Amino acid sequence: MAKRFPVVLATALLTVLWWQPVAAQPAKARATASVDLNARLQQAQADPQLAQTLLATGRKVAAVCAHCHGEGGNSVKTDIPNLAGQNPAYLLEQLRQFAEGRRRNEFMEGMIKAMDSDEKVGMVLFYAGQSVVHRPATAVTLAAKGQAVYAKSCQQCHGTDGQGNAQIARIAGQQPGYLNLTLQRYRDGSSVRANSVMTPSTRQMTPADIQAVVAFVAAMP
Ligand code: HEC
Ligand code: HEC
Repeated sequence: MAKRFPVVLATALLTVLWWQPVAAQPAKARATASVDLNARLQQAQADPQLAQTLLATGRKVAAVCAHCHGEGGNSVKTDIPNLAGQNPAYLLEQLRQFAEGRRRNEFMEGMIKAMDSDEKVGMVLFYAGQSVVHRPATAVTLAAKGQAVYAKSCQQCHGTDGQGNAQIARIAGQQPGYLNLTLQRYRDGSSVRANSVMTPSTRQMTPADIQAVVAFVAAMP
């Protein structure tokens, strides 16, 4: 019962925000989560029974998120990220960044406030277990140019396969509109999403480099 309540809240929040401009929401102080989410994740990874319980919670939460992030975390909107196949610790870090106002999106900040820590950990476990739907490149020449950019500037961190690791995002198969926007935000050091690692890594990129690398990365399996 107690576990179900926040999902109900999240659904209510979704309904309210759906009809209201997000800017109208009060900007409350953002509290840091009191539960160590990484410790809870590690606990679940070491305890199959706890993992099952949290996974069931996560699946329920994901039903709310599916409105935007798609069934099983495969978004069908180019500017909304896939969550499928994403690295759990990376996702938890993003939840913290939204909660602390280091990454800004008013809707996501509201969503995260309505989730308790087990819903957060359950959600990342659920999405980590989903596969990304592969969309092969249509602009083949552009993607080939992007492969060269990727090999030179991205692969040392995101890996030859684009899967990243615990701290680094999986980017293989990510939505092209979202990749484009995110890379521009990093590069410009935007207050919405700057990052001490990604901002220097993208600073030298031209619009053509971004376009090419997006075509390549979005088509990685
Ligand atoms: C109304 C649409 C909408 C709903 C519903 C929604 N999201 Fe999001 N979410 C977004 C958008 C848009 C972004 C990208 C924000 C940005 O970077 O500008 C995002 C980003 C995220 C990210 C960061 C992903 C990354 O690759 O860095 C996470 C994690 C996330 N959402 C989790 C959730 C969860 C969990 C739920 C359900 C409880 C949810 N979202 C519901 C629209 C939505
Ligand atoms: C020095 C290591 C490093 C290099 C080089 C690097 N990245 Fe990253 N990347 C990261 C880290 C760390 C994050 C997580 C940052 C955060 O929390 O916002 C990240 C995040 C991202 C994200 C956000 C993923 C999401 O789901 O929102 C994208 C997209 C991305 N990188 C693409 C690239 C591309 C394309 C290149 C090459 C042009 C590149 N990165 C080079 C380390 C790196």
